[in-house]
Amino acid sequence: MRADARKRVAILISGSGSNMVTLAKSMTGDHPARPCLVLSNRPDAGGLDKAKALGIPTAVVDHQDFKGDREAFENALNTALDEARPDILCLAGFMRILTPVFTGHWAGRCLNIHPSLLPKYKGLHTHQRALDAGDAEAGCSVHEVTAELDGGPILGQARVPIQPGDTADTLAARVLVQEHLLYPAVLRRFTAGDRTPVTLP
Ligand code: GAR
Repeated sequence: MRADARKRVAILISGSGSNMVTLAKSMTGDHPARPCLVLSNRPDAGGLDKAKALGIPTAVVDHQDFKGDREAFENALNTALDEARPDILCLAGFMRILTPVFTGHWAGRCLNIHPSLLPKYKGLHTHQRALDAGDAEAGCSVHEVTAELDGGPILGQARVPIQPGDTADTLAARVLVQEHLLYPAVLRRFTAGDRTPVTLP
């Protein structure tokens, strides 16, 4: 594929960026996309150094500078994104709630990974909630981002059996292994224009 025909992907993070790394590393060879930016809302996000080590441009838009003004924060996000000219946004552990103005602007072009089998357990503490409910399985989902938090069309899911003695941490670690398989698989399919859901394993 000609380099100028490839899609440009911006990855938004808040933390360690392990999903960002697996996404970035997947975008090589004949993959129809390349990373163009890693953007963090936290200046201390561990993923920033990982992105730099991979040679990906980085930017920080610190939400704390905007003192709760979500519109101003999102305007700054869009300014940073516009410079990088992404075709697709991948939220990868990006822990800010986005307004309908932002999600509407990026509609059809923005993906998120969430550590539960959506529509179960939107929001936080997903693994503990699955354990508290006595669920037999947990997992992760990649979905399109819409105005509804963790609510857009599901593009892929991976299931993870819950084992006796699991804690939120042990379960999260096993789910994360599946996240690292699922998100690149969905991105590759989505980038090729195919929204058929990916099911793992
Ligand atoms: C991942 O488990 C991701 O699913 C979760 O944050 C973690 C980020 O890890 N995202 C959410 O909870 C979003 N609601 P990472 O920074 O190592 O990719």
